[in-house]
Amino acid sequence: MQLIPTAEVKEGMCLAREVRDDRGRILLARGQRMTDSVMGRLNRFRVERVYIRDGYGEESPELLRAEMKLHCEEVLRDSFKSFHEEAKKKRYALDAHAMQSLTESVIAALMSNRDPLVMLLDVSTASDRLLNHSVSATILAILLGKALRVSPDMLNHLGTAMMFHDIGFMFIPEEISGKTGTLTPSEVKTLKSHVTLGAAHLVRASMVNKIAGNIVLHHHEMMDGTGYPDCVKGESMSQLCRIAAVAEVYDSLTSPRPYAAPVMPDVAISYLLKNAGTLFAREVVTSLCHIVALYPTGTAVQLNTGETGVVLTNRPQSPFRPALRLMTDYRGKTLTPTPVYDLARDGMRYIVRSALTLSELATPNARTIKDQAIDSVHLLC
Ligand SMILES: [Fe+2]
Repeated sequence: MQLIPTAEVKEGMCLAREVRDDRGRILLARGQRMTDSVMGRLNRFRVERVYIRDGYGEESPELLRAEMKLHCEEVLRDSFKSFHEEAKKKRYALDAHAMQSLTESVIAALMSNRDPLVMLLDVSTASDRLLNHSVSATILAILLGKALRVSPDMLNHLGTAMMFHDIGFMFIPEEISGKTGTLTPSEVKTLKSHVTLGAAHLVRASMVNKIAGNIVLHHHEMMDGTGYPDCVKGESMSQLCRIAAVAEVYDSLTSPRPYAAPVMPDVAISYLLKNAGTLFAREVVTSLCHIVALYPTGTAVQLNTGETGVVLTNRPQSPFRPALRLMTDYRGKTLTPTPVYDLARDGMRYIVRSALTLSELATPNARTIKDQAIDSVHLLC
């Protein structure tokens, strides 16, 4: 399958993955053929990209069934809403039972999984960043905890904390949390207060215990003491907080944010690796490298030879060398037919750049957008 911009969709093409709206409802089913009216629907709902069938790599393994992810988002949406309404009335008595059982079912689903690589590339129309980020960062943190042999009890605390870790943003005015331009020092201070606000409200509402509350409070601490709110240094940071910090940054970098476009998984991983041991716990970053797919199926890539292709399959044992379908030669000329090429069998070719689509790969300023995203990562994740 290929991920292509909606503007490049042509009549007769077939959807490789369903398209959902911002409430998670299916707009177009997998297998839907493109017609004039279907393409009009994509535009009306402002769907930017879709997965199109091309006969290759259609069956990439699912990390968490779409229904499960949707269920998580529904429970979280209701929880966030009632939490916010209750807090406005200065009431802090909420039933944490629904969240607890939700966390337990996500952990059970992930533990029984046969370890497929995480291929979280958000192509939905979802506008609720907080909701998507909460679920995706929870999934990553649980997988990291599993890889690092965190005990079942602690994994539960970690999962619950991550579902709520950014809930403090609900108490921050939207003109600041959604601002796309440069932030003033006072706005930065307000944004950073989401950790203290979130932890204080959650503990008061008995939604989390002390261990989970501590994770919420410290998910922006850095190993060298440059994080916030308490500038906790590595040796004083719990393993759960170290995991939370890495899951938080990885998902923030690879997700759409008001002030920056998402970066590709390989760019996010190289940023984390570059800062492993200084900002981030080395063992957690190393585990992440085995959990996420550097080049998810459908990603467009450029090779050192100048050729371009689309990723077909990933293998955990050779994360840098997926199998591809070559699309253009070294001069940029479209290949017909398009040969399948396995990088794991060729020591001479390697990937130098990735993008969501082939057209994005050809955009000269794509790299600048990514750099901006990395610059602001410590402020707003
Ligand atoms: Fe945060």
